[in-house]
Amino acid sequence: MVREENLSLRAKYNITAMFYDLLDYPWERIYRTWRPWLLGDLRGRVLEAGVGTGRNFQYYHESVEVTGIDLSDVMLKKAAKKARQAKCRIELLHDDASVMHLVDSNHYDWIISTFLCCVMPDELQSMAVEQFGRVLKPGGKFRLLEMMYSRNPKIRRRQEFFTAFVETVYGARFDRNTVQYLEQSDQLEITSKRFLKDDVYLFIEGIKKA
Ligand SMILES: C[S@@+](CC[C@H](N)C(=O)[O-])C[C@H]1O[C@@H](n2cnc3c(N)ncnc32)[C@H](O)[C@@H]1O
Repeated sequence: MVREENLSLRAKYNITAMFYDLLDYPWERIYRTWRPWLLGDLRGRVLEAGVGTGRNFQYYHESVEVTGIDLSDVMLKKAAKKARQAKCRIELLHDDASVMHLVDSNHYDWIISTFLCCVMPDELQSMAVEQFGRVLKPGGKFRLLEMMYSRNPKIRRRQEFFTAFVETVYGARFDRNTVQYLEQSDQLEITSKRFLKDDVYLFIEGIKKA
């Protein structure tokens, strides 16, 4: 089930999907240096929210069982191709991270999302955080990678140059308040946060309270 608020984002990604990997290539050259350590040590059941074209799949350990969800069926078709080449078992579901009606409660050891929350409308962020809390096992962990506006004026000017493009093509914004929504959660707790590049790419790690 996809929320009505997400129908235009889904339509956007159903088009962007056709050229996503090509368009994103310059950035992916950086991201692919992070993905191995972001994912390589995970074990158990992993829920990846907003799998996109499946760029994380090749980095999961062979013992991991991944459930991948995305609201765009065309992105999921691309992801299915990459899932066939992965070392681990991957099940793909057409579902909205702010609803997760196909996903079991208290089931996952990990939640992963890379560049999901920066595309998620503000009014849905706390609902997605609530779902993360619902589907994680007590003591289960999460890792999120997001991008945000820099405080460095030079970097900020460069981001502003790309703002319209990033929002039109990806629905992404640099001003989402994901950390704030996580901090407000009564189920989840942030255990660490750090920037991976400048003060733009934020890596957030946390746990579901027991
Ligand atoms: C910027 S892409 C990132 C894809 C991938 N995680 C990566 O690292 O390359 C964002 C993805 O999240 C998906 N998405 C956006 N909102 C979503 C939601 N509410 N539920 C599930 N997927 C969503 C989009 O369809 C898109 O595939």
